[in-house]
Amino acid sequence: MKRNTKTAQTTADGTSTLLSAQYGAHYHSLHGALTESLHIYIEAGLMASPKKSVSVLEVGFGTGLNAALTAQRATIAGFSVTYHSLELHPLSGNEYELLNYAKQLPAEAATLWQLICNAEWGKDSRINEFFTIRKINADFTQWVPLCNYDIVYFDAFAPDDQPEMWSVEQFQKIYDAMPNRGILVTYSVKGVVKRTLAQVGFTLERLVGPPGKKHMLRAFK
Ligand SMILES: C[S@@+](CC[C@H](N)C(=O)[O-])C[C@H]1O[C@@H](n2cnc3c(N)ncnc32)[C@H](O)[C@@H]1O
Repeated sequence: MKRNTKTAQTTADGTSTLLSAQYGAHYHSLHGALTESLHIYIEAGLMASPKKSVSVLEVGFGTGLNAALTAQRATIAGFSVTYHSLELHPLSGNEYELLNYAKQLPAEAATLWQLICNAEWGKDSRINEFFTIRKINADFTQWVPLCNYDIVYFDAFAPDDQPEMWSVEQFQKIYDAMPNRGILVTYSVKGVVKRTLAQVGFTLERLVGPPGKKHMLRAFK
């Protein structure tokens, strides 16, 4: 297996991302990490829910960018978010320091990002009155959902890099842990992803993607 080193790269909107040597994949779009995260997960995912109190599952905590932007939006909008985020390879302190989010994100998101990165793994951390996170150091393919999730951010590496994450079995597990009208969002619009989501029962919507990507997917239970 390749060593799991990560190198930082600045994306088109000025925010950084990491390249994983192990997976040969970037954590975000090179067309803009912040722009992608806001477009797919915050606007098309979090903001599509009619509920003011939601449970969110993220597959792939990575840099904590999606989590920080969710906390920021929850705080602005007055939503209550319980956020469970799975990660098999948590970043080290040095790896977090490769990222420029403390300087490049809007001030409130930058502060929330630092609090979230410092939160202990495996326990609930109340970041503020609107956002509580549990970072879970586990292999998603072996993990059993802890509760029902209104919104799922499916942000694994691409199906070509990690086909085991995008299987019928894994999407069925998620589907079974969602209420009716629950929402799953992901950047991948690959045929196999659409077919697999439809096979387990999701209703699919193809939306306009972030810069550099024609489309993205939103799926409803
Ligand atoms: C595309 S990145 C996620 C980016 C992240 N959402 C962010 O905001 O920075 C994919 C993440 O999935 C993690 N991952 C890979 N295999 C995994 C597994 N089997 N279970 C849980 N996480 C996994 C990787 O280590 C990586 O951090």
